[in-house]
Amino acid sequence: MNIKNETIMVMDFGGQYTQLIARRVRECNVYCEIKSYKTSIEEIKKSNYKGIIFTGGSNSVYEEKSPKCDKEIFELGIPVLGICYGAQFMAYSLGGEVSSANIREYGNTEVSFDTNSILFNGVSNKSICWMSHTDYISKVPEGFVITSTTPVCPVASMENNSKKLYAVQFHPEVQHSIEGNLYLKNFLFNVCGCKGDWEMSSFVTETITDLRNKIGNKKVICALSGGVDSSVAALLVHKAVGKQLTCIFVDHGLLRKDEGDQVENIFRKQFDMSLIRVNAKNRFLEKLAGISEPEKKRKIIGEEFIRVFEEEAKKLGKVEYLCQGTIYPDVVESGVGEAAVIKSHHNVGGLPEDIGFEGIIEPLRNLFKDEVRKAGLELGIPANLVWRQPFPGPGLAIRIMGDITDEKLEILKDADAIFREEITLAGLDREINQYFAVLTNIKSVGVMGDGRTYDNTIALRGVTTSDFMTADWARIPYDILAKVSSRIINEVKNVNRVVYDITSKPPATIEWE
Ligand code: XMP
Repeated sequence: MNIKNETIMVMDFGGQYTQLIARRVRECNVYCEIKSYKTSIEEIKKSNYKGIIFTGGSNSVYEEKSPKCDKEIFELGIPVLGICYGAQFMAYSLGGEVSSANIREYGNTEVSFDTNSILFNGVSNKSICWMSHTDYISKVPEGFVITSTTPVCPVASMENNSKKLYAVQFHPEVQHSIEGNLYLKNFLFNVCGCKGDWEMSSFVTETITDLRNKIGNKKVICALSGGVDSSVAALLVHKAVGKQLTCIFVDHGLLRKDEGDQVENIFRKQFDMSLIRVNAKNRFLEKLAGISEPEKKRKIIGEEFIRVFEEEAKKLGKVEYLCQGTIYPDVVESGVGEAAVIKSHHNVGGLPEDIGFEGIIEPLRNLFKDEVRKAGLELGIPANLVWRQPFPGPGLAIRIMGDITDEKLEILKDADAIFREEITLAGLDREINQYFAVLTNIKSVGVMGDGRTYDNTIALRGVTTSDFMTADWARIPYDILAKVSSRIINEVKNVNRVVYDITSKPPATIEWE
């Protein structure tokens, strides 16, 4: 990887596929950065980009408020690929015309290509592409030629090859565009001249060198949760500066069965990190005693977490840097949108910056989740941790409905461990993106042997999802559910009923609280 020599800019015009475009580019081993359409032309000139991709967007170019960048961008000699709105913006800015159709062209659409175009080299004459637009380019700007059409779209793509400007109405980045990857590659390698040498191994070595230079002989602290992001971030810093990094692992007692010991084993024993484990279960349970309201529980845990962390940090004396596991989607999503607060997510990476550090270190700021996993494997983190399913900051507290007691925690931990074990044994642990047990606040009547029981109900939750924003309930085979159910009833005391949650998100959320 050499970011300085080979970076593609993905200019965000507000489209829903912006991150997907960036991922596709990175999948071609080309580094790219998402930047706002408001980025100044001076900054773009300085950045030495190999190429620029305009994303889609929901506006019409002729609306006054629609996102627009400086037209000088087309004069810089940097190749530009406009997608959907980006294509229309290019046409409109350079003197072409954009019109609004009566009906939207939407879905899988057969596009006829001029395969003499450098962009479509190797593409079939007719190929299925994903379309989603109402506006269309009705007249191409001077110097441009049409390179593909559909029965209803006169300009499915256009180009001015001598100026290296290309525009496609369809979306190469979505899987439905069958040969989308091919024309994206043509753009990156044949038009922009990228080499494709962005690799995780070089990312890891270069990041370690950069971190070493940045940190010097100063001290770093990191809140380690055992989650993938904070683990990979901490390990990168550890490789760079060794014992100058201290990791604080706040064990709030709300982790899954044996998880605290596992985290300690991996990081202290395997990686020889300087790790402080704070066993703060009692402290958290005292604060949570008698509290049933989900948001209140979350808030208490979040605040207490920070308090414990601060106390431990103080004991270390002066520490200049705080390391956090922020990843690229967090960076891109923060500041965008005004989504309603459904749950106040508490993330152990989200410590307040005002604890008094000189700076924050975020080595994963530019990586997508799958890239973080690759980096983790590269660093030698065990595969089961790298592929660990997400686990919420407030832990089991939001999987026990109602108030939390030690006894309830034990029941849930045991039931959850059985469920996870059986899913892994069945080889479904990567297919089902998140799966866990919930201790409902319900007791029901049962019969065991000759006697009546009145005991707890465990709910099992399993979901498939790509982004955790929406999710479907996992179709776990009945025989596996049956085995989990009977094991929980037999092996976990005080449970006499097991149910499976068959609600998608929305309307439900993944967690129960
Ligand atoms: P929901 O329940 O909102 O969860 O559908 C979506 C994803 O977020 C995880 N989650 C959290 N993660 N702190 C976290 O770090 C939290 O407070 C939190 N609450 C939910 C949840 O496990 C799922 O993966």
